[in-house]
Amino acid sequence: MKEGFSVEELIQQAKQAMNHAYVPYSKFKVGCAVKTKSGKVYTGCNIENASYGATNCAERTAIFKAVSEGEKEITQIAIVSSGNMVTYPCGICRQVISEFMKEGIFIFEDRKENIVTYTYEEIFPYSFTKKDLEEARENN
Ligand code: THU
Repeated sequence: MKEGFSVEELIQQAKQAMNHAYVPYSKFKVGCAVKTKSGKVYTGCNIENASYGATNCAERTAIFKAVSEGEKEITQIAIVSSGNMVTYPCGICRQVISEFMKEGIFIFEDRKENIVTYTYEEIFPYSFTKKDLEEARENN
């Protein structure tokens, strides 16, 4: 757990985490930093495995670290990678993000250090969340 405040600082934290990426198979490094409602920052990198399906993305590493420390509300998420373009979260990570982030900002940076931000709705519209389950229960 680290303290972090601005968009740039969050990107810096994500970059630091990216240095720890364990990517012997894809060689594609990803770093992530999530800021929680209480202002704390948790970071993560992708961690690959010889059994490829056991790979954990940077986003989920960071989120699981936060939740395991009792932080369940994410307000900002910064993602960087060793790729040339902005790296958007994969489908599994979007689903995990949606569990702990209801609204907030996504921050990305490409290799040329261009920072772009998006809202939660822009990245993951029509997400399936626990609200859907609650409504289904009410109707049964
Ligand atoms: N990866 C992430 O860490 N986050 C993403 O959102 C996209 C993909 C990782 C998984 C794997 O280690 C590598 O990038 C190539 O797919």
